Amino acid sequence: MNSSMLRLAAAISLASLFSLSTQAADSKGSVEVVHWWTSGGEKAAVDVLKAQVEKDGFTWKDGAVAGGGGATAMTVLKSRAVAGNPPGVAQIKGPDIQDWAATGLLDPDVLKGVAKDEQWDNLLDKKVADTVKYDGDYVAVPVNIHRINWLWINPEVFRKAGIDKAPTTLDEFYAAADKLKAAGFIPLAHGGQPWQDSTVFESVVLSVMGAEGYKKALVDLDEKALTGPEMVKALTELKRVATYMDPDGKGQDWNLEAAKVINGKAGMQIMGDWAKSEWTLAKKTAGKDYQCVPFPGTDKAFLYNIDSLVVFKQKDKGTAAGQQDIARKVLGEDFQKLFSINKGSIPVRNDMLADMGKYGFDSCAQTAAKDFLADAKNGGLQPSMAHNMATSLAVQGAFFDVVTNYINDPKADPADAAKKLYAAINAAK
Ligand code: BGC
Repeated sequence: MNSSMLRLAAAISLASLFSLSTQAADSKGSVEVVHWWTSGGEKAAVDVLKAQVEKDGFTWKDGAVAGGGGATAMTVLKSRAVAGNPPGVAQIKGPDIQDWAATGLLDPDVLKGVAKDEQWDNLLDKKVADTVKYDGDYVAVPVNIHRINWLWINPEVFRKAGIDKAPTTLDEFYAAADKLKAAGFIPLAHGGQPWQDSTVFESVVLSVMGAEGYKKALVDLDEKALTGPEMVKALTELKRVATYMDPDGKGQDWNLEAAKVINGKAGMQIMGDWAKSEWTLAKKTAGKDYQCVPFPGTDKAFLYNIDSLVVFKQKDKGTAAGQQDIARKVLGEDFQKLFSINKGSIPVRNDMLADMGKYGFDSCAQTAAKDFLADAKNGGLQPSMAHNMATSLAVQGAFFDVVTNYINDPKADPADAAKKLYAAINAAK
């Protein structure tokens, strides 16, 4: 357990002495679900689950906490846990699941029967299953897989600016961005929130350093990779990419920036494929009204993140049935298809990933599934740092601070920023 989780664990053991049960009881039971799926497109996706669970007779208490990337939701969750009142189910990802499980607050028993009956071990890739297991037991159900390193393009805007093809290298990206600027468009829609800055940063690192370099730097946190010439180059390119970002984007939500590309004010956005949920909501078609291409220079790699719903121990034993129903529904074929079509992601089930056409997934999702399976074999599949899959949240916070300060400081020096990155990460470990 890292130090911030240790502090959390200590606070929780005190708070549990004074806690009260707040679960409302009704016929089949009610479950509160804390998540951060609050944009229009994300809400359409989570409403699929809510409807299925309610159809089964359970009450869904919506614990939505606004804020892309989930940092605010995680803060709310920690204070709820400290107050002895965690929700029945919450969206938590990656290594953080292990830290939460180590506090003893997650329930290792409630999903046992469902996982066995529904043969989760056969449905899921081992890498996926291991992320949501603690000491061999499922403490969460994986929901979907997102790819981070995408570039979203409005082809109509590209045409108006005289650009005839999607960029495949950083140089082509800069050339396209220059044309967009000259034609009066915002070249790159981007909300300047730390998680969005780091989403762009990790795509640029992947482009410059390749999957192996990305792994050494952002997953293994290797000193040489973090401070060496390749990272300095990546930071130099990041600064150049940043010159094309929306000047009105400071502090802006990702979906409001996506809307600028959808409405034809901007040409491109670098964002994970939840961005597609906004295009889908606007009734736009992949390949026709918009293009999704891997971020230039990253077509052989796949930065992934797996959304998961963890189950917390509850004082009201009646909640278990609702938790189990949610878990059963989430890995069901019907939900896997409908949720990901709305959300922009791809299913977590192996059988579905191998047969995407059958389920009516669009060209972006089909490309994602094909690349996910191929990159899992060739080392190109890497966990996203910006989306909680690669490091502890404390280390991620160090990345966020240094990257955002670097982007916003007109005098910042890339070699100096690389050193600061390494120092901040070490202090956070
Ligand atoms: C989550 C997505 C979510 C996105 C924007 C990511 O970290 O994995 O499910 O749509 O943040 O909030």
